Formats: sequence, structure tokens, C-alpha cells
Amino acid sequence: MHFVWPPHMNLFPHDHRMWAVIGVYGGREDNIFYKRRADGQGLDTVNGKTMEGKDVAVLGRDIIHKVANPLMTYTPAIHVYGGDFFKPGRSEWADDASPEQPLGPDSITNTFVEANANAAKLLAEQG
Ligand SMILES: [Fe+2]
Repeated sequence: MHFVWPPHMNLFPHDHRMWAVIGVYGGREDNIFYKRRADGQGLDTVNGKTMEGKDVAVLGRDIIHKVANPLMTYTPAIHVYGGDFFKPGRSEWADDASPEQPLGPDSITNTFVEANANAAKLLAEQG
């Protein structure tokens, strides 16, 4: 899949339930990786990884992460997934203190749509 992260986009924590290989070829992608809290309420931060042009990351099937583009430029990346990215059964969290819930069928798409609209506004303001 070809993802292009709009300026200042923030994608909520989510899991994949399959391996993934991410290759960024411009801009910057900041990842925060999590694990489920032992009490089942929310997420604990494990670590983070900043990816910039020509960086590649291999993500295991159990990862939970959130992704942000902190720049005022677009961040393009190629994502290869070891399964059906759109198959139901994955999870999302509104933030790291929120309960786990089923990933909505349009949650990620809607976040991209909102982020693209926000980016267009930011870039217009910037001139
Ligand atoms: Fe992801």
C-alpha cells in the first residue's frame, strides 16, 4: 500500500495482527509503540522510532503503534502487510488511556480525510 501522511497528521493507536514492512522515502514518520496494560485498561508505551527518507522498519504481528507526521510536508511510504489489511478483527484506541475497541471499518480512512483537509488549511495559511 502507498501511504502519504499529510502534514501534522496523527493516527490513533492501532494494531495490525500481521507482520508489516514499512519503507519511508521522504518526510518523517514518528512512531510510538505500545503494549496492552496488564489491567486491560489502555496502553503502556514501550518505545518509539522516528523514520525519515530511506528508512525501513519491520513490524512484528503483535505490534501496537500510533503514527504522526510532525512536519509541514507530506511523508510518503510504502507499506507491505502480511495479510489482509482491511479484514475485520483489528483494534484501535482513541488514545493510550482509552479502552481497546474494534477498529472501525472507516476509522483510518476518515482520519486521512480529516488530516488532508486540515493539511490543506495549514498549507494555505502558510502561503
Ligand atoms: Fe499501523
